[in-house]
Amino acid sequence: MDLEAARKAVAGAKRVAVLTGAGISAESGVPTFRSWGGLWRGFSAEDLATPEGFARDPKQVWEWYDWRRSQMAEASPNPGHYALADFAKRSTGFTLITQNVDGLHERAGSPDVLRLHGSIWHTRCLTCAKEEEDRRERIPDLPPKCQSCGGMLRPAVVWFGEVLPPEVFDQALAATLACDVFLVAGTSAAVHPAASLVPLAASSGATVIEVNPEETDVSDVVHHTLRGPSGVILPQLLSPRLG
Ligand code: OAD
Repeated sequence: MDLEAARKAVAGAKRVAVLTGAGISAESGVPTFRSWGGLWRGFSAEDLATPEGFARDPKQVWEWYDWRRSQMAEASPNPGHYALADFAKRSTGFTLITQNVDGLHERAGSPDVLRLHGSIWHTRCLTCAKEEEDRRERIPDLPPKCQSCGGMLRPAVVWFGEVLPPEVFDQALAATLACDVFLVAGTSAAVHPAASLVPLAASSGATVIEVNPEETDVSDVVHHTLRGPSGVILPQLLSPRLG
């Protein structure tokens, strides 16, 4: 029933905004954010993904990112990523906001992805701030050095305690406030300010739809709950009606 009601809301919407999280890449074989840390030498993600963790041991943090890069490089987009990319191409007024750094939305063909937490495929120099794409699966001689100034490079991602890129967040905020339907898929909605977009959408009048196999911190503010994997649910929700 909720799927039908949610499909109707999407079909009737002029503007749709989507917030995705790690769960959308789970069916591509990429572990969700909170499973990464424990999988690697017993560290928690919270220990590694912080400016303090990097200052303490940049090589160790880079080794963790290098390991994640190698796993993400082997992953391919799944039907959930493709359903969003296809929907974007068929729609006007569509905004895709992601917390993911894996680049799978882009690989599925999604245009103009708002990456709230940066990209694992980019580096930033701690000295000259130059940001560059680096698509190598493994980077030798960690931590890597800036080709321009020789400074130390860090992954161009947002860590705990850091500020989100302001222009990206502003665009996400504008899309959240303007949409008729806000879809939240594959995120535990535990990390702010990304998660705060969900209650904001609800309080500004959007119909909010959640796609997640499990209950989350925002389940109580959503209007339609679609419990299941996004690779199955999103194609059902977003595909044009057949026949
Ligand atoms: P989490 O690891 O916190 O949550 C993953 C969510 O995906 C959970 O709610 C799962 O129930 C759900 N899930 C699992 N399999 C799924 C599937 N097949 N389909 C749909 N959902 C599924 O990851 P995020 O919510 O993305 O930020 O974490 C948010 C942010 O926390 C990350 O971007 C990261 C971290 O702080 C930074 O690194 C700044």
